[in-house]
Amino acid sequence: MSHKESPLNPLKAQEESLSQVYEGLKSLNLNLDITRGKPCSDQLDLSVELDGILAGNYTSRQGIDCRNYGGLDGLQEAREIGSWLLDAPTEEIIVGSNSSLTFMYQYISQAHHHGLEGDHSAWNQLEGGVRFLCPTPGYDRHFSICEHLGIEMIPVGMTGTGPDMDQIEALLQADPSIRGLWCVPKYSNPTGDIYSDETIQRIANLGKLAASDFRIFWDNAYSVHDLTDQPANIADIRHLSLQAGTESNLVQFASTSKITFAGAGISFLSSTKENLKIFTDHLSYRSIGPDKVNQLRHARFFTQQQQLTSHMKKHAAIIKPKFTRVLELLDSELGDQTGSTWTRPEGGYFISFNTRPGLAKEVVKLCAEAGVKLTPAGASFPYGKDPKNSNIRLAPTLPTIDELDQAIRVFVVCVKLATARSSH
Ligand SMILES: Cc1ncc(COP(=O)(O)O)c(C=O)c1O
Repeated sequence: MSHKESPLNPLKAQEESLSQVYEGLKSLNLNLDITRGKPCSDQLDLSVELDGILAGNYTSRQGIDCRNYGGLDGLQEAREIGSWLLDAPTEEIIVGSNSSLTFMYQYISQAHHHGLEGDHSAWNQLEGGVRFLCPTPGYDRHFSICEHLGIEMIPVGMTGTGPDMDQIEALLQADPSIRGLWCVPKYSNPTGDIYSDETIQRIANLGKLAASDFRIFWDNAYSVHDLTDQPANIADIRHLSLQAGTESNLVQFASTSKITFAGAGISFLSSTKENLKIFTDHLSYRSIGPDKVNQLRHARFFTQQQQLTSHMKKHAAIIKPKFTRVLELLDSELGDQTGSTWTRPEGGYFISFNTRPGLAKEVVKLCAEAGVKLTPAGASFPYGKDPKNSNIRLAPTLPTIDELDQAIRVFVVCVKLATARSSH
C-alpha cells in the first residue's frame, strides 16, 4: 500500500471524529454556566417562610427590639443555631450578617493590621511577613483573602482524608513565620474530603508546634450538607483542642448561606471567650451591630435542631439527583478512557475533576468556546496556579438537570478531544 492510501492512524481518526462532534456542539450556540457553587431556586424556595415569619413581632427571647442598633455578639437564639453547626457552646459563638467569609476576612485583617496579642504582634509588622498553609485544591476565596493582604501562601496536598499532615507538621516546625492553616473539614471545597479522626487529632495538636498567634481557620461551611442517609460525623476539633491545650489556636466559621438564602443568611464565628473579646473589640469600630432582624427570622424558622436536619434532607433531595447525573455521565462517557479521575462526594457542593496533567486549561477553553462556562482552571489553587494544570471544579447545584446534562455532555467531549489532541 502506498503511503498516500494508508488509513488514518486510529488516534488521528478518533481525534477527527471528536472534532466533528465538537463542532456540532458549538453550532448549538449553548449558553450554560456551571461555574459557582450556588443553590438553585428550588433550594432557595425551601426557606421562603422566612419572609413574614416575624409577623410584626421583633422582640427577641431576651426582650431586645431587634430593629434597633446594638448586639454586636448576636442574638442568643441565633447563637444556638451556630452551636448546632459548630459543636460549641453559645458563649463561644458570635453571630454576624450574611457572610462567614466576611468574618474570615475581618479576623485575618485584624491580625494583619492590629495583631491578635496587641499591636506589637500585627502580622504586617513582622519582619519577613507571615505565611499561611493552604491545602490544595481548596476554596479560591480563602486564597484571595491571603493574596489581597499580601500573605504568602504555601500549598499543601490533600490526601482524601484531609490535608497532608506530615507535610504540615514539617513545614510548621521549619518555618516560625507560619500563622494560618485553612481547613474545610467536611466535604472540602472542591475535593469533598472528609477529614479523618487522625487528621483532626493532629490538627488539634498543631498549636504546640506553632507561634502563639497561629490560627486554624476551621471553615465548616458544609457541616450539615450531606447527600447520603448515613452522613459522616467528623471528630470534635474544639474538644480535642481543649484536651491539647491549644483551644486559642482555633477559630471556627459557618453560615446558613447554603441552608436558607445564600445572599441573606446569617454567619457564625466561634473561638475562646478571650479570642472573641479581642475580635469583637475591633469589630465595634466597624459596626454598631449586625442585622438582628434576620437573625431573629432564622431563629424563628429553626427553633429545634431537628428542623434544621429535616430541612437539609430537603436540600439533598433536590441536589442529589444532579450529582448522580453528573457522575453517571462521567462514568458512562469517560470511564477510564482518558486517564481522568473525579471525586464522588458524599456531601457539599462540588465534584473535583482531574484531567491528565497539562490539559485543564485547554478543556475549560474548549468548553467556553462551545458555550459552557466552567470555573477557570487553577482557581482552586493559591495564586490561581495549578502546578499540574489538571484540576477542574464542577458545581452541579445551580443548573437544572437538563442544563447540567447538556453541559456535562459538552464537557466530556472537550475532555476527550483535549486528551486525543495531546496524545500524539
Ligand atoms: C468552603 C466555603 N467557605 C465559605 C463559603 C462562603 O460562605 P458565606 O456565604 O457564609 O460567606 C463557601 C461558598 O462557596 C465555601 O465553599
